[in-house]
Amino acid sequence: MKDSNFLRENNARFVWHPMGHPAEGMENPPPIVVGGSGVRIRELDGTEVIDAVAGLWNVNLGFSSRVVKSAIAAQLDELPYYSTFRGSTNDKIIELSYMLREFFREEGIERAFFTSGGSDSVDTALRLARQYYKIRREPGRTKFIGLRLGYHGTHFGGASVNGNPRFRQSYEPLLSGCFHIPAPHTYRNPFGLSEGGKLAEKCAEALDEEIKFQGADTVAAFIMEPVLGAGGVIVPHESFMPMVREICDRHGVLLIADEVITGFGRTGEWSGSRLWGVRPDMMTIAKAITNGYFPFGAALLSERIAEAFESSDRATGFIGHGYTYSGHVVGAAAAVACLEETKKLNVAENAKRRGRQLYKGLLELKSKHSSVVGDARGGKGLMAALELVSDPETKQPLDPSAVERIHKRIFEAGVMVRISGSNVLLSPPLIISEQDIDAIIEAIDIGLETAFEGA
Ligand SMILES: Cc1ncc(COP(=O)(O)O)c(C=O)c1O
Repeated sequence: MKDSNFLRENNARFVWHPMGHPAEGMENPPPIVVGGSGVRIRELDGTEVIDAVAGLWNVNLGFSSRVVKSAIAAQLDELPYYSTFRGSTNDKIIELSYMLREFFREEGIERAFFTSGGSDSVDTALRLARQYYKIRREPGRTKFIGLRLGYHGTHFGGASVNGNPRFRQSYEPLLSGCFHIPAPHTYRNPFGLSEGGKLAEKCAEALDEEIKFQGADTVAAFIMEPVLGAGGVIVPHESFMPMVREICDRHGVLLIADEVITGFGRTGEWSGSRLWGVRPDMMTIAKAITNGYFPFGAALLSERIAEAFESSDRATGFIGHGYTYSGHVVGAAAAVACLEETKKLNVAENAKRRGRQLYKGLLELKSKHSSVVGDARGGKGLMAALELVSDPETKQPLDPSAVERIHKRIFEAGVMVRISGSNVLLSPPLIISEQDIDAIIEAIDIGLETAFEGA
């Protein structure tokens, strides 16, 4: 490793960081993370903090999963790469596809198409949805509908169904034929509703109306995160996704559950679809499938999709889509080990319990710091958020410099959180202990307390 002076001197100078302004990175260089162990990361100066982000919602088993690391090392020795394009395969994707079908049996998953990450998985699902309708001889069904505030990655397809202007406007024009309905977000919605059940009905009605307005025979799929993550951890009312399923069925529209964050236990269930008792037509997964140790993902397909493709003629059902790293053998080996470990540790159960504790702590912080915390969200596993405001009455978002100060103070108090707009996002590893959740709450409390001292 280069010495500390070199690293500090060149930090953010020659790298453009995702989701940030290049100049801001130079003015305010980020902590340099050089080590990780358990649920903690280590900065270049030796400081250790709890990672309340789990990398980027993905290091569910923490940084010390020997099982996953050994699987990666062993696979690199045995076979570091081979293509899975038509004509060859590898042993690990055969094993993994079998395991995923078993694991997501309740969701009705039958097939897997492997990718290198979440954005790939989303684009794969969108493309296969269009192709499904071409196979079914309904070629006019090409449109997609998503939720405002939904996040589906940054490829052109995913960005087009994405519902956050910050990830869209600079890259327009996006894919045509993509439309959005309001998210079931009780804190901010166009209906002025704060009761989850009523709001869910309104949003579901909006979906029904949008499909009718577009013409059901032009709509291929509706895509949603079962619990919205990057948009600020928005937990829909339990009635929402089942209503969406019914509306999609009534209009013959496919339902894609984007489970890139919610897959593998984060919500306290093995998937977000299972949390709401829904069987989607496709699921997109990535992130925790390898514990973040290797870029990997998949679009998972139900019986209905599998049957259509597999019984189609050779020209229409030909999948003209895939990536050099689709089904990467090292990623697949990591995923096999990770899935075994995930089941063995039953991390969904810990996520459920610790998630309740985290949410309770955040609600207490909201009462204590009511002039700056507008909303506390969570309660379904280890995904939670605080929304910071400058005025709780008007819900005016807190200005970015104050948010940044709070971020810094929380880090100094021993915890890494993630900031997105005026939201503090929390998604710690699913193996986290009760004491460490307490420590996260305490550090946020200190951050909120001290950020305004002398201001
Ligand atoms: C729900 C969802 N879908 C898709 C993506 C994109 O995944 P990736 O960043 O691996 O491309 C993300 C990333 O956070 C996500 O949260």
